[in-house]
Amino acid sequence: MSGIEILGTGSFVPDFIADNNKFSEFLDTSDEWITPRTGIKERRIMTDKPNYYMGVQAAKKAVEDANIDPKDIDLILLSTCSPDFFYPSMACLVQKAVGAENAAAIDVNSACTGFITAMDIAQKYLATGHYKTILIVATEKLSNHLDYTDRSMCILFGDAAGAAVVRKSDKPFYSMLGASGDEFEALYCKVNYDANCPFHGDDMPFYNNIFDTEAKQKYLQSDGHAVYKFAVNAMTKAVKNVAAQGGYDIGDIDLVVPHQANLRIIKKSTEMLGIDPEKVYTNIQRLGNVSSACIPVALDELNKQGRLHSGMKICFVGFGAGLTYGAIIMEI
Ligand code: UT7
Repeated sequence: MSGIEILGTGSFVPDFIADNNKFSEFLDTSDEWITPRTGIKERRIMTDKPNYYMGVQAAKKAVEDANIDPKDIDLILLSTCSPDFFYPSMACLVQKAVGAENAAAIDVNSACTGFITAMDIAQKYLATGHYKTILIVATEKLSNHLDYTDRSMCILFGDAAGAAVVRKSDKPFYSMLGASGDEFEALYCKVNYDANCPFHGDDMPFYNNIFDTEAKQKYLQSDGHAVYKFAVNAMTKAVKNVAAQGGYDIGDIDLVVPHQANLRIIKKSTEMLGIDPEKVYTNIQRLGNVSSACIPVALDELNKQGRLHSGMKICFVGFGAGLTYGAIIMEI
């Protein structure tokens, strides 16, 4: 099976830093509560620009790093669960900004699993030869979704974007994607339509029964315990699956780049898998959970630190609203 060559990476994080103490100024919370339970010390918030701005910055850096002509990009796959528009796709906005005039442009939404999903789609397109150069972008502004009176959720998330330019390689690539739609209530953010169609009646009973408060209508809602349990199980299952596909022992993996939702989730799942903690990359301490941007931002940081070497086996693993999950083991 053919794989993916990463030609270039890029990322963008906003300047504004909200450390844990800033949350204590308006919420009954503290660094003493947040750090041991989540690993998060600070996160970045985009205070004055829309989400697509971050995606564009990350995409431009990835294209520059790849040293390609934007006109050579055949496809832009953009992962976001916090788009600025219902339409057009955010991928179209990135296409215009980077000058990728020959590219098709598609948005992908599998929440925090989005970058893994986009990589999986990219690998399939590249394998067929239909597209030769793909720009993958993940950009998220979860600060638009959060209820900043809900101390259990608003402290977890931040804003950021990451991107990678990829082409086909002959190196190994193994992936799996999964979903558990019956657990969607564990993590969701409902679209808050304000339509004025004179023909509308009451909304479907399904919605009326579930979304019975203003917070449930407007903001990210999550059952933290249910997500935690799902995450640990799904991440271990996904890594075992892709390792088995490739005939790898867990010890063969050189570097694990997990979704950064909670340091305890990362530690627990990698411990259950028997992965050496030295091989696990984390940046949640500085950025919090930036949803599908977690993994490509981490990838760009690793690239800039000179820690990506030809022949390495990297594992990406994550989970998110849906609930969805997935993993990739690829040789770079
Ligand atoms: O991409 C996926 C997104 N979702 C997630 O990643 C969520 C995964 N889950 C988690 O990370 C954890 O479940 C949380 C960090 C959300 C919660 O940690 P926990 O150790 O499971 O705490 P808890 O929910 O059991 O709450 C313990 C106590 C509660 O008070 P009482 O009822 O014991 O008096 C909470 O009200 O901590 C309280 N609490 C807080 N206290 C101070 C909850 N949030 C806070 C807070 N500051 N920020």
